[in-house]
Amino acid sequence: MNYCDIIERISYDILEKNDPGNVASYIPELAKINPDKYGVFIKPIDQEGCGVGSCHEKFSIQSISKVLLLAKSYGIHGELLWKRMGYEPSGDSFNSLVQLEYEKGIPRNPLINAGALVLCDILIDSLPKPKDDFLGFVRKLAVDDTISYNEKIAESEAKNGYTNSAIAYLIKSFGNLKNPVEEVLDFYFHVCAIEMSVETLATSFLFLANGGIVPKTKERILSLSKTKRINAIMQTCGFYDEAGEFAFKVGLPGKSGVGGGIVAVHPGIYSVAVWSPKLNKKGNSYKGMKLLEQLTSATDSSIF
Ligand code: DON
Repeated sequence: MNYCDIIERISYDILEKNDPGNVASYIPELAKINPDKYGVFIKPIDQEGCGVGSCHEKFSIQSISKVLLLAKSYGIHGELLWKRMGYEPSGDSFNSLVQLEYEKGIPRNPLINAGALVLCDILIDSLPKPKDDFLGFVRKLAVDDTISYNEKIAESEAKNGYTNSAIAYLIKSFGNLKNPVEEVLDFYFHVCAIEMSVETLATSFLFLANGGIVPKTKERILSLSKTKRINAIMQTCGFYDEAGEFAFKVGLPGKSGVGGGIVAVHPGIYSVAVWSPKLNKKGNSYKGMKLLEQLTSATDSSIF
């Protein structure tokens, strides 16, 4: 399959189209991004990858890092995780408080903010130096030692993180956060502020397309069974109240972030990442969704 020609052709078509979306502005530092940025990179397991547009420029991966938090915590704690959170789709926005109250502080799944905050709490208890150790894990997945936190973005989110604070305090009130709320939030805001290019993002998710093994280093990160389960959770929960739409139109496990990134994997075949900062009404990249829809149609590579 000549993925390079295909993503070039589709990108040409997508870039011509009007984008009705808007850049996320509730984190002021994110709002400074050029809204017309665009990059895509596809990385087959057994071939060199190829990209179009700003595919080496770093951007804020935001909620995409929730999948990596899950991978790290699941690797350490296994099925015990499900005592602290569920794995059902929420059908709600990423930062909703409503369900959390009536489900008594047990987040519906690990990919909403509430779930990621509990994962941060778990990793604070499990890692000697949570921020450094987590970054080390991400660097190992991406085979790239330059990946880091953007301190300005973490600080900007912390200053405006009222909803996340409310979520964390609500979870704490139900006894599902062990560490101080401020410490959990600080780790969470940093994890969201990791920066990667679409090339590094596609590379860092390739282990999920490859049965839990990083293809380049051959290191096993997760068992086959845990890898399958993370992909299932991405499929059902990766796009919040638009998870159905993504399954319907794209048909791959994936995850979005309010920085405008989306990553998706085709188990056994490839991973792909796209970045276009303007978001649709549900908070997912407008052009990113379109690109992936056209990609799986053109390559007949939906998993369904
Ligand atoms: O917690 C927040 O609001 C952001 N740091 C992350 C949100 C996000 O990326 C949701 N994904 N689409």
